[in-house]
Amino acid sequence: MSETTPKRYNPALVAIHWLMALLVIMMLGVGKFMMPTIPVEDPQKPMMLQTHAYIGIAIAVLLVIRLVLRFTTKRPAPADAGNAFLNWVAKATHFLLYAFMLGMVASGMGLFQLADLPSIFSGATPYPADYFSSFAPRGGHGIFSGLLLALVALHFGAAMYHQFIKKDGLLGRMWFGK
Ligand code: HEM
Ligand code: HEM
Repeated sequence: MSETTPKRYNPALVAIHWLMALLVIMMLGVGKFMMPTIPVEDPQKPMMLQTHAYIGIAIAVLLVIRLVLRFTTKRPAPADAGNAFLNWVAKATHFLLYAFMLGMVASGMGLFQLADLPSIFSGATPYPADYFSSFAPRGGHGIFSGLLLALVALHFGAAMYHQFIKKDGLLGRMWFGK
């Protein structure tokens, strides 16, 4: 048990980062660009929402595990982007990525409860023609999804900047190895 700062994130956190990155990007892409193109009368619509909701609940479980690991494992020292403002932006971005993921799962689970999604999955209740806009959490779900998408783009751009312009090997911190 050494007190030295590691060069990389804990491997469990690394695995969960990439698994969640895959799931969240998929959910944002499908939710924003595919789900709205399917009309409510389409028999596939409830099934698509069911898949969306269950992946969303899996993301919620992963997020809880991730936050516990985040605060109980050793992290590398903060990366240096070269100036104090960018370093602050990085910190704020990481915090908000967690906050908006939490916002997505909380509003999604709020909708699950309020709109009784299981009755829509089973076909007992028709898919609402207003796309759930009469339920308050739907507004938050839409707003958080836009903000999360923008931040993920910023985060991806920053990772590419470090890796290919600063060439400081940042991606290695979020990968496996000694
Ligand atoms: C698109 C591809 C992605 C790449 C290339 C990427 C890359 C990285 C890298 C290299 C780090 C470590 C940064 C450091 O050492 O300071 C990191 C951290 C992080 N990533 Fe990503 N990431 C991606 C997608 C995502 C997505 C989709 C999310 C969540 C919506 C996410 C959330 C986070 C968070 C919250 C951290 C901070 C970890 C912490 O210190 O708690 N990433 N990412
Ligand atoms: C991180 C997790 C999640 C992400 C990234 C996500 C993403 C999205 C996106 C992008 C939309 C379209 C929003 C818009 O443009 O207005 C959407 C709609 C929706 N999501 Fe999620 N979602 C997540 C979790 C959940 C969960 C856990 C549930 C329910 C258990 C849920 C239920 C819904 C519902 C009911 C809609 C409305 C569908 C419609 O308009 O027809 N989501 N989601």
